[in-house]
Amino acid sequence: MAKRKIVTGNDPVLRTVCRPVGAVTPRIRELMDDMVETMRDANGVGLAAPQVGILRRVIVVEVEPGQVYMLADPEITASSGEQEGNEGCLSVPGESGCVRRPMNVTVKGTGPDGNPVTVEAEGFLARAFCHEIDHLDGILYTDKALYMNEPDAEEEENEKKPEKMSPAAYRKYKKNRKDR
Ligand code: NI
Repeated sequence: MAKRKIVTGNDPVLRTVCRPVGAVTPRIRELMDDMVETMRDANGVGLAAPQVGILRRVIVVEVEPGQVYMLADPEITASSGEQEGNEGCLSVPGESGCVRRPMNVTVKGTGPDGNPVTVEAEGFLARAFCHEIDHLDGILYTDKALYMNEPDAEEEENEKKPEKMSPAAYRKYKKNRKDR
């Protein structure tokens, strides 16, 4: 296994519809293994092949440590219910946003051994599959977010606490706030 570089930002590979895999070759198995290693190294719960620059329909998901799913050509064949919750993405570092997803999904695909796999996923696992499968169609969660969070807002406020400032700094602080 080898760690691969994660693509971030406005790279067009994140906006491309990926090609189906078809037969799972040793090369695709190697890609799956590398993606698991890369995901774990980055403390992620899922990764899609375009995030490591490969435009093929492959995802890995590991919401519960040790319970890893590696799928080629994954498809959501059924979904029900609804949930709203926060998502982040290794390709969009430092951000998070609230996304509406189905509560339950059935995912079908091909496993690393070439056999068909069906996963009944609920809650956060369902969310992870939806997020990763979207990547294969060039879709990022930021496209679907109901709103984006401001993770640093509180920290920033603390940093700028007026009582810790000199009078001159405080005047500047107030002016900046007004100018926003
Ligand atoms: Ni992502």
